[in-house]
Amino acid sequence: MVTRQLPKPAEIFELMQFKKPELNGKKRRLDAALTIADLRTIAKRRTPAAAFDYTDGAAEGELSLARARQAFKDVEFHPDVLRPATSVDTSTTVLGGPSALPFGIAPTGFTRLMQTEGETAGAGAAAAAGIPFTLSTLGTTSIEDVKATNPDGRNWFQLYVMRDREVSYELTRRAAASGFDTLFFTVDTPVAGARLRDKRNGFSIPPQLTPKTILNAIPRPWWWIDFLTTPKLEFASLSSTGGTVGELLDAAMDPTISYDDLEVIRGMWPGKIVIKGVQNIEDAAKLVDLGVDGIVLSNHGGRQLDRAPIPFHLLPHVRRELGADATIMVDTGIMNGADIVASVALGADFTLIGRAYLYGLMAGGREGVDRTIAILSDEIVRTMKLLGVSSLGELEPRHVTQLARLTPVTRDAVEPTRA
Ligand SMILES: Cc1cc2nc3c(=O)[nH]c(=O)nc-3n(C[C@H](O)[C@H](O)[C@H](O)COP(=O)(O)O)c2cc1C
Repeated sequence: MVTRQLPKPAEIFELMQFKKPELNGKKRRLDAALTIADLRTIAKRRTPAAAFDYTDGAAEGELSLARARQAFKDVEFHPDVLRPATSVDTSTTVLGGPSALPFGIAPTGFTRLMQTEGETAGAGAAAAAGIPFTLSTLGTTSIEDVKATNPDGRNWFQLYVMRDREVSYELTRRAAASGFDTLFFTVDTPVAGARLRDKRNGFSIPPQLTPKTILNAIPRPWWWIDFLTTPKLEFASLSSTGGTVGELLDAAMDPTISYDDLEVIRGMWPGKIVIKGVQNIEDAAKLVDLGVDGIVLSNHGGRQLDRAPIPFHLLPHVRRELGADATIMVDTGIMNGADIVASVALGADFTLIGRAYLYGLMAGGREGVDRTIAILSDEIVRTMKLLGVSSLGELEPRHVTQLARLTPVTRDAVEPTRA
């Protein structure tokens, strides 16, 4: 039998806690986002469909991206118990410099499309958090403006080697002159992937006003006010002639780029050079033998080849092949700090975030990117504490199992045997 009593007014009063309402709508919105998926939901609500889909979408059936995200969800962690980890050190050294967290901001093209602050928000948030920022060749903020936003932090530049080599060489010289310390040479883009959402949306650069886009704009006035009242949305370093980003990429990219181009770029670049978009063990080994400073295992966030290898699955095999000294980074599919912890455990020196950053940007400009970094950072710290580790160096392969759902039937699928 439960004993019942009359409720006492003083006890009821104690239970009643009214929080002061947050009057700043952006802060309220961002504070309510607890995960990167929450930021994505806000981003979708506030951004015109064509811009959101350009960011959120991937190539063809979007299987590369879905599988990469699934592979992270299929991580199983193995914690050690009774190992106090009260304070956790998330800092690391990568490519000869510091980073407060084991991730940096990936290069993304046309970033001011997502939200007008674009790369300035990304570089500013990276500077405040003490992590590197990467500017894309297809950026909408100039090399010099990014440097001005992040003057004391680490800026990296992503290079596409284009048909007109002189355009690429000039960007390389400018990035070096502005003190960018690392060049990311992206090699997974001989031609553009088929971004079907862009085609279906009739997405073009610059965005066009059609009856469909106008209808879609009605519930998203802030994006349009930003778009119409801030400097023109255009590539900072390239001139575009209209069409989708894919069409522009196809016109600008050279499917014949090769190891010869790597040699030329290396000769021009005084800092570290990293190859972004490596997708098998043989290429990774060859590039490290050639003396590059690092590689990024990446399938470009699923925006190029669909059904590409899952970078996170390649990671332990590439680490085993290259040994402890090579700098290996990984990206594609990171939506949670735990994905980053799992990557470090399986041998990644560093990771890059693309969409996680852009969802924050679309949800709330600079403060939204700050929120992305804070969410990932909290998740990293919490996961490390729950695993019983106090520093990134303590993370080991034994902390992670990659569950088998998406593993190739035989290793031949990622390690082709030559006849
Ligand atoms: C909207 C968008 C634009 C991108 N533009 C570039 C680019 O210009 N150059 C490049 O090397 N990678 C580009 N990427 C790929 C990212 O650098 C990164 O590899 C990818 O986003 C990682 O996957 P994630 O989005 O799941 O984090 C882009 C990605 C997105 C989402």
